[in-house]
Amino acid sequence: MTKFWLSERMLSRVFWEELKFSIFYEEAASDAKKIAEVTAPKVNEFPAEAGSISIESSIYLWLLSKYFAPRNVLEVGTYIGRSTLAIAFGGRDSIEQLYTCDGTFDCLDFNTLKSPDIEKVKLDTITQIQYFGKTMSTALLKELKEKGVKLDLVFIDGRVSNEDCNILSEVMSERCVLVLDDFEGVEKGVVNAMMLRNAFRGMFLVNPAVEKNSVSGNLALLVPTNLLTLTRQQGLPVNM
Ligand SMILES: C[S@@+](CC[C@H](N)C(=O)[O-])C[C@H]1O[C@@H](n2cnc3c(N)ncnc32)[C@H](O)[C@@H]1O
Repeated sequence: MTKFWLSERMLSRVFWEELKFSIFYEEAASDAKKIAEVTAPKVNEFPAEAGSISIESSIYLWLLSKYFAPRNVLEVGTYIGRSTLAIAFGGRDSIEQLYTCDGTFDCLDFNTLKSPDIEKVKLDTITQIQYFGKTMSTALLKELKEKGVKLDLVFIDGRVSNEDCNILSEVMSERCVLVLDDFEGVEKGVVNAMMLRNAFRGMFLVNPAVEKNSVSGNLALLVPTNLLTLTRQQGLPVNM
C-alpha cells in the first residue's frame, strides 16, 4: 500500500508561497524598509564591513518570527542589527528574550536605532534584546545552558562549530526551529546545515524560497518533524 509522501522540496515550495500571502506581508515589507534605512548608516561606524541581510530576507525573517511565535530567540551574527530588528518586530507578540551575539564586533547600541518613523510598540521590543558584543556563539550558548534557557528559534548568520551543535542540543526546546542565512552554493548556510542535520536527525529542511524571477532566496529552515501538523481547514488555524 502506498503512502502519502511529501518531500522536503514539495513542502518548501508550499510553505514560502503561503507565507508570502500572509495578511502581515505588507507590514513586514514596510518594517523591513524602515529597518534597512535605520541600520544602513551603522556600516560606517563599524571598523570593518561584514555584509547584512537583504530586504527580502528581512521580510521573510519578520514573517517567520510571527509565524513560529517563539518566546526565546538566539541570533548568531548581530553585525548592524538588521536581522535582529526584523525578528524582534515580527515576533513582538511572543518574544520574551532575544539573545544576539557577534564574535568580531562590539559597537552596536540598539537604542540608537530608534527612529521616529518606527511605531513605539515595535521600538519597545528593543528592551527584549540582549546584545553580546565580541562574544562567540559557543560562549553565549554555554551561558544560556547554565541559565537553563530553552530556545524556540535560532537564527544563524555566522559559522557554527561542532561544539555549538552539542550545546544547542541542550538549549533547544522541542519546538525549536533553526533558520539559516546564506543557504546557497558552498556558502556558510550550507556548511552549517550539513553539520546541524548530522547533529539533529529529526529535523526536516525547508529549502529557500524561489522568487518570481527564478532567483532563490537564501534563508533555509530546519524544523523539528514533531511540529508538522495537518489541518483540514482551508486556511491556517493561526492568524497569518
Ligand atoms: C553576515 S554578518 C551578520 C549580519 C547581520 N545578521 C545583519 O543582518 O546585519 C555575520 C557576523 O557574524 C559574526 N559571526 C560569525 N560567526 C560567529 C559566531 N560563531 N559567533 C558569533 N558571531 C559570529 C561575524 O563577526 C559577523 O559580524
